[in-house]
Formats: sequence, C-alpha cells, structure tokens
Amino acid sequence: MTIAITGATGHLGRLVIEQLLARGVDPSTIVAGGRNEEVLGRLAAQGVRTARMDYADASTLDDAFAGAEKILLISGNEAGQRTVQHKAVIDAARRVDATLVYTSAPKASTTSLVLAPEHKATEGLLEGSGLTYTVLRNNWYTENYDDTIHQAVSTGSILTGAGGGRVASAPRRDYAEAAAVVLLSDDYAGEILELGGDEPWTFDELAATVAEVAGTPVAVDKVSVDEHVAALTRSGLDEGTARFVAALDANIADGALAGSDGTLSRLIGHPTTPLKQYVGELLGR
Ligand SMILES: NC(=O)c1ccc[n+]([C@@H]2O[C@H](COP(=O)([O-])OP(=O)(O)OC[C@H]3O[C@@H](n4cnc5c(N)ncnc54)[C@H](OP(=O)(O)O)[C@@H]3O)[C@@H](O)[C@H]2O)c1
Repeated sequence: MTIAITGATGHLGRLVIEQLLARGVDPSTIVAGGRNEEVLGRLAAQGVRTARMDYADASTLDDAFAGAEKILLISGNEAGQRTVQHKAVIDAARRVDATLVYTSAPKASTTSLVLAPEHKATEGLLEGSGLTYTVLRNNWYTENYDDTIHQAVSTGSILTGAGGGRVASAPRRDYAEAAAVVLLSDDYAGEILELGGDEPWTFDELAATVAEVAGTPVAVDKVSVDEHVAALTRSGLDEGTARFVAALDANIADGALAGSDGTLSRLIGHPTTPLKQYVGELLGR
C-alpha cells in the first residue's frame, strides 16, 4: 500500500512519517510531499519517496498521488487560502480514488472557533466528494504554548484572555501517532474523530505546572479581549493578528477547546502526554 502525505515537510508531517516508520512501514511505500527542498532531501535520506508538491499546481499533486491508496491531507498553513488548496488535494485524490485522511479542527462543523470555517468548508468538500475519508479533528498542539511557557519562567507571569477556559491540548507527536494508526487501518473509514489530550487544562493550571517544574512562581494575568488586543499590539503584533489571537483566547474562554472524550488515547493505545511531562521536556528539567 502506498501512502502519500501532504505537508510532509512540516512539523506534524515529519512526525507522522516517523510514526509510520516506527510501525515497520516500508519507507519506499511512503510519498512525502511539500515544497521545502532541503526538508524533502532529509526525508529522502530516510528512504522515503519524496515529491515536490504545490497545492497551486495540480500536476504536482497528480505526480505525487500516482498509485497512492491512502492520502493524508495535513491542513495548510496559509489562512484564507486553505479551502481552495484543500479542494485541489481532494480533486487530485478523486482522480486516483484514494482514501483520504484530513486533519481538521475541534467540532469544525458547529464551533464558533475563529479558525474553523476553512476546516468546516473542507469537511463539506469531503462529504460531497464520494471519497472514503476519515477526519481527525485535532485539538490544540501543546507546542502552541512553548513561547508562553518560556516567558512564564523568565517573567514570572502568563497573560491570557482565556479566563478559566480549558485547553485539551496534546503534543504534535500524539496526533501524529493517531494519524499513523488511522492510515494503517481500514477501521476508521467514514469517521470523524475528535482528538485531544486526556486532561484539558486551564491557564491557572498551566502556570502552576510551569511553577512546579521550573521552581519559580508564575502568576496569571487574566485580561479582557480589548486589554488582550492592546497588550499584543504593544508587543509588536499588527492589529489584525492581535485581534485574531485575542479571538482565539475568547473562544477558549467560551469552552471551544475544552472537550476531550479520550478518543486520542484510545487510538494510540496509551495516555496522551501529560502537561507536566511536556513542560519538563521543554524546559529540560
Ligand atoms: N492544532 C493546532 O494547534 C495547530 C496549530 C498550528 C497549525 N495547525 C494546522 O496543522 C497543520 C500542520 O501543522 P504543522 O505544525 O505541521 O504546520 P507547518 O510546520 O507549518 O507545516 C505546514 C505544511 O504545509 C505545507 N504547505 C503549506 N502551503 C503549501 C502549499 N501551497 N503547497 C504545498 N504544501 C504546502 C508546508 O510545506 P513547505 O514547508 O514545504 O512549504 C508544510 O509541510 C498546519 O498547516 C495548520 O493547518 C494546527
């Protein structure tokens, strides 16, 4: 079976390939697609087949997907362009009638999460595609908070607009493992899987965890949306980006990322990486 992976040059894609190889998949049956030639070269050195893949050039998708039975569509990273890009991938997948696995967002079809509309649109395209597919609705990556954690240690505080909202995050490696499990099975065809960490945490809990691991006090500064936007623009973000980031925290405050039903840990066969372990690894403690 040949498995083609889009976004294979990105953080998640590289981890999915690691997970497939760790499960004994023959590297010559993996096609890793992306634009970054240097990373493609590193993947080729692992024995994986590589393909220069650009969502804007359908011929690169056709070349990469030739003979593929499964395709992992890792959502793109250009907000505003993603629905068109994902449509190009879905159309190419239809031309080879591959089974498609797509990385989406929590409760994409019903959530008010500001970044969900492109994921909802992509899920809609999949529904109308006639393809066999599985949706992995990945919650936040814990890595999203690497800077927050480092700053908490250096400044002794965390600023958040998320109030008491919970985040069911997990490190990318846990989601990558789930993607590998799903790609290597036919049991999840037609399923929409909500994936997140076992223990959704609040920012107070994040601060307490960092404080415990680093051995230094960490306070939480809870701010309103307007205060958050002002703080973010003061730190150098343009207003549009600041409003987007503040809206995401407001989504968290409203519970958009709080859900976790254990599907991720059941899929990967072990608990998701605990926050304390993650923080310890990040800080080298
Ligand atoms: N759940 C979360 O917390 C969270 C956080 C951030 C992002 N995400 C989503 O999850 C995805 C994967 O995360 P990640 O950390 O692996 O992101 P990433 O490191 O930014 O990787 C994105 C991948 O998409 C590829 N790509 C982007 N535009 C492309 C195009 N026009 N044509 C072909 N390939 C293109 C990139 O290829 P090249 O580098 O080779 O150009 C790269 O391989 C992101 O793209 C985003 O949709 C989720």
